Amino acid sequence: MKKVAKDVVIGCSQSVELAQKIARKLNIRYSGLETGYFPDQETHVRFKNPLKGKNVILVQSLHNPNESLIELLLAAYTAKEIGAKKVILVAPYMCYMREDSRFHKGEAISSKVIGKIISRAVDELYTIDPHLHRFHNLKEVFSIKATRLSAVKEISGYIKKNFKSPVVIGPDAESYQWAEAVAKPIGCEVAVLEKKRAGMYGQRKMKVNMPGEGTIKGKQAIIVDDIISSGHTIIETIKNLKKAGAKDISCIAVHGIFAGKAYKKIKAAGCERIITSNSVAHQSNKIDLSEIISKKIKK
Ligand code: R5P
Repeated sequence: MKKVAKDVVIGCSQSVELAQKIARKLNIRYSGLETGYFPDQETHVRFKNPLKGKNVILVQSLHNPNESLIELLLAAYTAKEIGAKKVILVAPYMCYMREDSRFHKGEAISSKVIGKIISRAVDELYTIDPHLHRFHNLKEVFSIKATRLSAVKEISGYIKKNFKSPVVIGPDAESYQWAEAVAKPIGCEVAVLEKKRAGMYGQRKMKVNMPGEGTIKGKQAIIVDDIISSGHTIIETIKNLKKAGAKDISCIAVHGIFAGKAYKKIKAAGCERIITSNSVAHQSNKIDLSEIISKKIKK
């Protein structure tokens, strides 16, 4: 996007700090969004400043999706109604991307539905490491210009700086390319595990099988994943890494959602360090994404 004086970055409720950082890096004005709830939990939003003729960059990570999506939709449509020229969404975490197939008869392919809704509400989209598995391109989900960024370089940089004898662990086959890309610039080994899950909502009876145990003994094992949600993937992987003799175990994720008590449970399972990017605001944030986002927007 060509930078013009009329641009404004607006931090929606899930991403205020990140939005402020992006605005500083882009050297354009930051403005907040007033948000609240009516007694029946309907969402209320109000822009604090006029938007007529402006390119509006809305920053909203879409975890807690059923709340954050409604807020985003109210904001995006309102911005247009009160005169915004263009509405650009920065959604570091894009929700519903894992529901990318009709796994059971009659089920919603939620990523497609949400993709259609977002494509009608905003003009352009930036997102970080979206969970593209059965779909390979954002074009299959969104009909607007959608740009996919990656935190892989930032994660590699973090590991290089903070670990002496790392081995990167991909918890499942889907993470293969991703784990490899993280390990390559570090020049360390990668082990990719096999995950079997039973049950619809992803949280029960998960088994992680461990090939290549020889690579793990005495090493600093770092589980790298795109999303931590229930934490089961990480916890099962930790159990296996312990058996395989890892010296210490850490995990790094781009999107730390930590549903329920996931953060505490991962700690209790023996994870020395839990590290995430600031895609989703959380106490574990150590990797800042504002630089890669603002650089891409500036182009
Ligand atoms: C799935 O394939 C993803 O890459 C993550 O491994 C998964 O979403 C993590 O979910 P949970 O924390 O609920 O195991």
